Amino acid sequence: MSLKPEELLNFIKESGLLVILTGAGMSAESGIPTFRGEEGYWKVGSKHYHPQEMATLSMFSRVPYEVWKWYLYRRETCNQVQPNSGHIVLGEMEKKLKDRFLLITQNVDGLHIRAGNSRKRTYEIHGNINRMRCSEECSRETFPIPVNLQWKDKEREFSREEKNLLVCPLCGKMARPHILWFDECYNELYYKFESSLSAADKLDLLIVIGTTGTTTLPYRIITGVMNRGKPFIVIDPYENDVTELAKQYNKGCHLQHKSGEILPEIYKIMNER
Ligand code: APR
Repeated sequence: MSLKPEELLNFIKESGLLVILTGAGMSAESGIPTFRGEEGYWKVGSKHYHPQEMATLSMFSRVPYEVWKWYLYRRETCNQVQPNSGHIVLGEMEKKLKDRFLLITQNVDGLHIRAGNSRKRTYEIHGNINRMRCSEECSRETFPIPVNLQWKDKEREFSREEKNLLVCPLCGKMARPHILWFDECYNELYYKFESSLSAADKLDLLIVIGTTGTTTLPYRIITGVMNRGKPFIVIDPYENDVTELAKQYNKGCHLQHKSGEILPEIYKIMNER
């Protein structure tokens, strides 16, 4: 039998660590396409390449400016939209719970930070679309992508001046998007790998929002929590492997709603208790 969400909300009010794990569905109501939905990034390709190929180091090594174009175009979309009511609520929740709150996001759009979540308690485990780093790893730093590098037309070519903006500010070699690609591994330095697993070992309640759980770290977090017998709630308007896991687990529950609609309600209940 599944726990009722209210029991879980009571529980988090008492004590313990709440970890929120978000995926692309979190930003869907802001107008950013998900990856695997009908109009998803992995479904609607570019003229020349299968979309998932764009998110690989091997493609970047062969045609770096094609990959840059794709990310700069996506970045434009992310920067034009606004955080939705779900993002805003998570910002409020952090302010209320402080160190009892941690956000692990697969989203590279930066909307959680724009909605008020702190950098300290937000792990961007797949990177950030507004940042770049040295493709030759001359340092471990990441840098903001210059704001004047705008990309509204997907297929246009780079000018020489624009190419000069996409270089490492320290050594002058080519910069790459600060994004975890499919043919790369998680690590602590850029993607908070160990910190995320350690949070999964400590948390008392996990809320998973809008993800199909296809990548390995989110899947390990979810199964780790189940192995420890801790509760987890999934928010997703549709069914997928993660919602299925929650339904089969005696301390799991699936709230079949859009996050922007249900999160304000959850927060209201938290504040009333
Ligand atoms: N509220 C909550 N969930 C929603 C909403 C919404 N309003 N709209 C859609 N969803 C759900 C979908 O039903 C789906 O289950 O969001 C989920 C999005 O799944 P994916 O498109 O697979 O995105 P995600 O799980 O974040 O992808 C994981 O894969 O390709 C990589 O690096 C990429 O970070 C990405 C990772």
